[in-house]
Amino acid sequence: MSRQIIIDPITRTSSRGHVEVTIEQGKVVAARLSTLFFRGFEIMLRGRDPRDAPYLTQRICGICAAGHATAAAYALEDLAGVRPPRNGHLLRNLILTADTLQNHIRHFYLFAMPDFVRGPERSPFIPRYRHGYRLAPKIETRLMEHYFEAVKVSRIAHEFLAALGGKAPFVHGILPGGATVPPDGALVLDLRAKLDTIGRFIKEKMVSDLQTVSEAYREYYKFGRRPLRILVHGFLPVDPERKRFHFPTGVVEEDGTKELDASAIAEHLRHAYFKEDAGPQPAGQQETTPQPGKSGAYSWIKAPRYNGRPFEGGPLARLWVAGCYRRGISAMDRLTARVKETEILCGLMKEWLEELAPGEPVFTPFKPPKSGEGLGLTDSMRGPLLHYVQVEGGRISRYEIITPSAWNFSPRDDAGRPGPVEEALLGTPVADPGEPIEIGRIIRSFDPCFSCATHIIQKE
Ligand code: NI
Repeated sequence: MSRQIIIDPITRTSSRGHVEVTIEQGKVVAARLSTLFFRGFEIMLRGRDPRDAPYLTQRICGICAAGHATAAAYALEDLAGVRPPRNGHLLRNLILTADTLQNHIRHFYLFAMPDFVRGPERSPFIPRYRHGYRLAPKIETRLMEHYFEAVKVSRIAHEFLAALGGKAPFVHGILPGGATVPPDGALVLDLRAKLDTIGRFIKEKMVSDLQTVSEAYREYYKFGRRPLRILVHGFLPVDPERKRFHFPTGVVEEDGTKELDASAIAEHLRHAYFKEDAGPQPAGQQETTPQPGKSGAYSWIKAPRYNGRPFEGGPLARLWVAGCYRRGISAMDRLTARVKETEILCGLMKEWLEELAPGEPVFTPFKPPKSGEGLGLTDSMRGPLLHYVQVEGGRISRYEIITPSAWNFSPRDDAGRPGPVEEALLGTPVADPGEPIEIGRIIRSFDPCFSCATHIIQKE
């Protein structure tokens, strides 16, 4: 006998996600993941000055802002043929990484941990499932102390970001051409102190808390598995030219790692609420025309595919390509890689602070061209992020954004292949369909950002 379960909302943040799973003989046999709003930034940007893109696109969401600023800055630099000076490049890396630290700390403690640890008997920890928790109360109390400490520590990461980017979220300090804040000795000392506090918390608490959770819930190294198909655009360039990245570019399938070919990325629209004019189109060429109520569609997320196949992005993909972590592709591997990446990022930031050169330029002045196109590829907190800009008469004529959550949470494509999260849910044993705790744990291991994947609530 089959049974249908609907979970809605599936995140602990404001944006809505909705999942429908079909269970037969205690296991998931089908999953459909959708979101209920339309993003629309591509449409808002038409006709604007291209220099608006790094500011406006950050408003897509409140937690990956520096990622959008970075991708937009890269796209505009590609358009104008300009690169930042070394200081500007380092400052932008520091801002993006500080935002990633706050994201990863908040994801682990605020979004993922309540799936495995019972918090106090008050909001936002209740209501929750009654079964499926297995840590001793003493250990849960300790982890919850760290939960509240994580709120403070993630705020310090935001203070770091604001010191270089003007404010948090939605930084003003990431520009095409470089950054804005001239570094000096006092600023570097202050940032080093902040970084030491964050680094100590990660090393002394976050790493061991992950170990506690992963040892108690070992079956999650088997749950949430999917075929090895991962994609990395490249995260944190080594030099201003962006030829190499600290987390290298790569496309991994079962038959090995290949170079990324951006022209192999295309968006499928058959199961998304968008008008389809002519089959899957390459990135930058796909029209964004919303079509609410379209027959056969079930999500406001488009389905990006690489060579026609679904790919997963995120910290696990990055660490896999970099050769730092290759244990497996499961829910617990995703959580483990994210924590490990947080630790690695702190080490990189320390080096970059040392490399900043007071008195040297932070920005390369340039004139935006009146026409042309530009592609900005980076990894962001949750995986590969693409911004494409086309300019005519000095104004944006076309803009396109493909987010990590669009990759991970995409619906079925034109060939009917499920998206990565839909794949990861298949085969999951659900002990009690009345309390499907396993489903949420798997979905949240991907760190969903649905506001980045879609946007604007549909009026009913
Ligand atoms: Ni986002």
